[in-house]
Amino acid sequence: MVINVKAEDVKNITVLGAGLMGHGITQSFAQAGFNVTMVDIKDEFVNKGLANIQWSLGKFLEKGKITQADHDAILKRITISIDRDAAVKNTDLIVEAIPEILSLKQEVFADVEAKAPKHAIIATNTSSLPITDVAAATKHPEKVVGMHFFSPVVRMNIVEIIKGEKTTDEIAQVIYGLTEKMGKEPVMCNKDVPGFIANGIQMFPLNFVGQLVDMGKFSPEEIDSATTMKLGLPMGTFGLLDFVGIDVVYNILKFMATRIPGMRMARVLEEKVEKGEFGVKTGKGFYEHPGNRWQRPTVWSQELAARFDPQLVVVVGINRAAELVADGVASPADIDKTMKLGFNQPVGTLELADSLGIDAVVQKLEFIAKEYNEFYTPHTLLKQMVKDGKLGMKTKEGFFKY
Ligand SMILES: NC(=O)c1ccc[n+]([C@@H]2O[C@H](COP(=O)([O-])OP(=O)(O)OC[C@H]3O[C@@H](n4cnc5c(N)ncnc54)[C@H](O)[C@@H]3O)[C@@H](O)[C@H]2O)c1
Repeated sequence: MVINVKAEDVKNITVLGAGLMGHGITQSFAQAGFNVTMVDIKDEFVNKGLANIQWSLGKFLEKGKITQADHDAILKRITISIDRDAAVKNTDLIVEAIPEILSLKQEVFADVEAKAPKHAIIATNTSSLPITDVAAATKHPEKVVGMHFFSPVVRMNIVEIIKGEKTTDEIAQVIYGLTEKMGKEPVMCNKDVPGFIANGIQMFPLNFVGQLVDMGKFSPEEIDSATTMKLGLPMGTFGLLDFVGIDVVYNILKFMATRIPGMRMARVLEEKVEKGEFGVKTGKGFYEHPGNRWQRPTVWSQELAARFDPQLVVVVGINRAAELVADGVASPADIDKTMKLGFNQPVGTLELADSLGIDAVVQKLEFIAKEYNEFYTPHTLLKQMVKDGKLGMKTKEGFFKY
């Protein structure tokens, strides 16, 4: 089916789910001038979602970021509903942000497709399910696309646009244009790969450090002393796991490990989840967090930092990013934009590769593959770059030109 929709034709949007992501997505669309209906399954859920939006807009008003007139107009553009059939009847775009359960999403997608106008695009905000699998429940998977927002939606500007196996370029481009109209930064993920761009890269180093602990090679304290003190990561890697939630990372990694040949989840992450030690939110993860607040562990020291080379963590992420470039999943520019905006990295992953030197990156990956785990063997693209003399900044060309 050919759908002739342009970004400027999209006026009415339906957001499914009024939870953490759904209310933020609704607010962001309404702030950009769209009419949005936010749907959930119970009155109390839509009311709570709306109350969250009102609170957030109140803060914008208080800080002088919007006027009273803006505030009122934005709220006027939002309708809440528990009648999904009525909500999708005249919609141009449906953005789904309901729980991460494939069968639930499939059931909802088949149903809304049947009830929405033919031209309506259906987007999913899934973090870990293949877009292709969610779309498989519809008659027209070509108009199903991934639109992956980051939390908190109103503050995080990056949005990954993901093409499922059947998504047309035109549909992906409409969503790209709409994201720009929202004042956000779209990046195109051309293939439906596990974890997409951001998590697809970030999960690799987080899992790798866990595997080093599994092998008894290093302790979390040694690795984090080095990643904080020598690399400047504010929370280290295990500290970050505690902050984000070990359960959250576990759930994303679990899906990735089933889809990426040779990938195994670090046992230490599974153990933490089995014990219910999720990190800050449970008061304990790799470190203690009294009062459920993140605090910098006092055990980190220069002495511990001296025992670990933190660049080993960095090159594992670079290797995965190189794979995404080689497979045509995303451009180096989009990868770096994603990593900088998605994780507040001061420097992009591939720009960092260019500054370290691609030859040095390959050497470190070869060391890891030999000493620890051959899953991290350097990607052929990196080896080819070394052969071609594209070593990064020092040769004026690597992933980027200088
Ligand atoms: N939490 C994050 O940081 C984050 C980031 C990016 C993407 N995501 C993804 O966004 C989606 C939603 O996550 P969340 O954190 O907002 O979850 P949440 O639990 O906060 O909200 C989900 C909402 O969907 C509602 N719901 C359930 N069935 C529904 C249905 N049939 N129709 C309408 N509403 C229904 C629930 O009542 C709930 O209010 C998931 O797919 C998740 O993977 C989450």
